[in-house]
Amino acid sequence: MRIGVLTGGGDCPGLNAVIRAVVRKGVKEYGHEFIGFRDGWRGPLEGLTMPLDIPATRGILPRGGTILGSSRTNPSKIENGLERIKENLANAGIDALIAIGGEDTLGVATKLDALGVKVIGVPKTIDNDLNNTDYTFGFDTAVNVAMEAIDRLHTTAESHHRALIVEVMGRHAGWIALHSGLAGGAACILIPEQAFSVEKVCEWVESRFKTNYSPIIVIAEGAIPQAGDMVTKDQSLDSFGHVRLSGIGEWLAQEIEARTGKEARTSVLGHIQRGGTPSAFDRVLATRFGLHAITAAHEGDWGKMVALHGTDIVRVPLISATGQLKTVDPARYKEAEIFFG
Ligand code: F6P
Repeated sequence: MRIGVLTGGGDCPGLNAVIRAVVRKGVKEYGHEFIGFRDGWRGPLEGLTMPLDIPATRGILPRGGTILGSSRTNPSKIENGLERIKENLANAGIDALIAIGGEDTLGVATKLDALGVKVIGVPKTIDNDLNNTDYTFGFDTAVNVAMEAIDRLHTTAESHHRALIVEVMGRHAGWIALHSGLAGGAACILIPEQAFSVEKVCEWVESRFKTNYSPIIVIAEGAIPQAGDMVTKDQSLDSFGHVRLSGIGEWLAQEIEARTGKEARTSVLGHIQRGGTPSAFDRVLATRFGLHAITAAHEGDWGKMVALHGTDIVRVPLISATGQLKTVDPARYKEAEIFFG
């Protein structure tokens, strides 16, 4: 078979490990041929390709980002976009597609599957909010970056007797905030799934100061105060309709200063969480996903996504992953609350 590979949406550490595993096993064990599509769905839409063989994938295992490039191009928003992709694939003699992406990219893959395109999905996102897989690769690396930042902030917070706020990624799901906050010993963790009370946050801040510790507050970019609106830097949307976030951390620092009289500062980690080399966990998960994805394609099990269930890699229907987001359930959040304040 001649198989196209693409990476779409926000990049994340481990994408190259998937590409390497797909190509290595696909060529060595099954004798398939590969073609790389550049920049997510823009590749098959506009015929942007690059050679993808074993030499092209050497040395990329520890490299962050994606050698194929990525974009948030949404073919569903382009006139006849999905049909054009189907036609372009057929004209280029591509038999099947391996799409590596999150909710948006795999949502498009689900629609192409319904149109009869032979497609296999591989789940990626630092947000870990894709349904029907226990973890996505990229998440562990992002959590480690955020944890290291929290560790560093503790010492400067102590020196200056300040409250320090760390704003992490997570528009709709608070997984990065929850895990990095737990790992880093945060005084409280604020996530999009649970609207927070500013008054309660200030109580936790004051109680931390009373015990001679300086509080670190971890807040997801999509967290919202009770009875308030989402605080956003601007209202522009990407092509999947997501608003660009950032601003809630800064807003909370001002509230804390005004209400407690303590100095507060905010660090926004932003894309630092997405860049750089993948952790060992993410390299192994991404590699296993790649190995299982090419086997699913070889066996013609189309319309599936590879997923982690426990320690096993399984195949699930694409639609089961993209129908709804996997958010933090209240019980998981409750576990962490014992450490607040
Ligand atoms: O979906 C991954 C993610 O990193 C989100 O956590 C974040 O809100 C968003 O992408 C940022 O998007 P962009 O790369 O377009 O700034």
